[in-house]
Amino acid sequence: MCKMAGQKTFTLSQVAQHRSKKDCWFVINGRVLDVTKFLDEHPAGGEVLVEVAGKDATREFSNIGHSKEAQNLLLKYQVGVLQGHAFNEADKYASFVESKHKEMSAFVIKDDDKMPKYQAFLEFVLPLVFTGFYFGYRYL
Ligand code: HEM
Repeated sequence: MCKMAGQKTFTLSQVAQHRSKKDCWFVINGRVLDVTKFLDEHPAGGEVLVEVAGKDATREFSNIGHSKEAQNLLLKYQVGVLQGHAFNEADKYASFVESKHKEMSAFVIKDDDKMPKYQAFLEFVLPLVFTGFYFGYRYL
């Protein structure tokens, strides 16, 4: 479950107040999007977007079979989340954000960590030395 911390919450009736060419919002997978500035850039034109303005357009969006690029692009227009929407692992757009976050923290841990050499000594060299001593003591 992803709580999408820091995001504004909107009800569907609040989203429904933005359904014109000059102020166009809709919801996709629980994300509230303000696509007003995207209308002219949408490859299929702004008209189709205005048609679903103020509504939950999740089904329309996925019926088209939008590319990965399009799915990532919609994150750019997110202004909040829909009230009551449960984000979970199955939500691929949420997991896109999470996986990026995981990659980053893994990178930071690696970069910051001075342990590996020390750890290698404890985990590999030390048991080897003890084993050497043991066999030396036992058979020599
Ligand atoms: C913020 C939301 C959206 C974004 C960022 C977006 C982006 C895109 C992009 C990049 C394409 C080019 C093809 C691709 O890469 O998949 C596309 C095509 C298209 N989109 Fe969207 N789109 C959005 C919402 C919608 C919605 C809500 C509808 C329908 C109501 C829609 C209908 C279409 C259609 C009909 C095409 C043309 C598909 C084709 O030529 O095969 N889009 N969109």
